[in-house]
Amino acid sequence: MPIIVVASSKGGAGKSTLTLVLAQALEAIGATVTIVDADPNRPIVRWKNGKSKSAVEVVGDVTEATIIRTIREHSAHRQFVIVDLEGTANRLVSRAITQADLVLIPLQASGLDSNEAGRAVQLIREEEEALDGRTIPFRIVMTRTSPLIMTKIEKGIIQAVADAEIPRLEVRLNERQPYKAIFVNRLTLAELPAEVTGIEGAIENADRLAAEVIDIIADTSTKKGKQP
Ligand SMILES: Nc1ncnc2c1ncn2[C@@H]1O[C@H](COP(=O)(O)OP(=O)(O)OP(=O)(O)O)[C@@H](O)[C@H]1O
Ligand SMILES: [Mg+2]
Repeated sequence: MPIIVVASSKGGAGKSTLTLVLAQALEAIGATVTIVDADPNRPIVRWKNGKSKSAVEVVGDVTEATIIRTIREHSAHRQFVIVDLEGTANRLVSRAITQADLVLIPLQASGLDSNEAGRAVQLIREEEEALDGRTIPFRIVMTRTSPLIMTKIEKGIIQAVADAEIPRLEVRLNERQPYKAIFVNRLTLAELPAEVTGIEGAIENADRLAAEVIDIIADTSTKKGKQP
């Protein structure tokens, strides 16, 4: 079943947030999801140790020696495996990328470094070389965007990504308080206390993102001749 790897060589780009939000949205439509928390800081393992009743399974304790086996084992019995990586390039990151049906690369709309996307794509291209030409589908995901306006900086980054012919998710992950609160409270979006503002908008954004990811995976696996 599909393996989604969330990668970016930039720390703090929004990988763990994207991982957990996407996993929750997939769970909400009835999918079985395992997150492989491959970051030594283990942010998703910490989340799972809270009081949430979420059925998202979280696996920590992976090393470069076990990452491929762990991903494959879980993808055999779960509908989605999502791998959250740390914000550096190392062998564990490389190995995880080789297993991906789709790599998602979060890119902060507020970031001033538009080469960031290029660097992440370069990493994927290098893995593809090692795979003798098998392509690894990937998409940039704009994160921490404003739900109200598209800023000048964001427009500039989107243009730079388009000019470099780097594929991008249409849906952006907006800057939303609930996306922080799920980590602080160790709950799902739906479980958050009502005083957290903007829960509905956050769930709606997450659902749209998950729907586009499902479409892309269905599309790329059809092209590969696999069943989605
Ligand atoms: N869409 C969002 N809305 C609100 N806050 C966000 C969003 N995305 C990320 N953040 C915040 O930005 C910070 C970094 O996000 P996150 O931890 O997801 O990044 P990361 O790429 O996993 O970082 P690292 O490289 O350290 O693993 C966190 O404080 C997180 O709460
Ligand atoms: Mg992280």
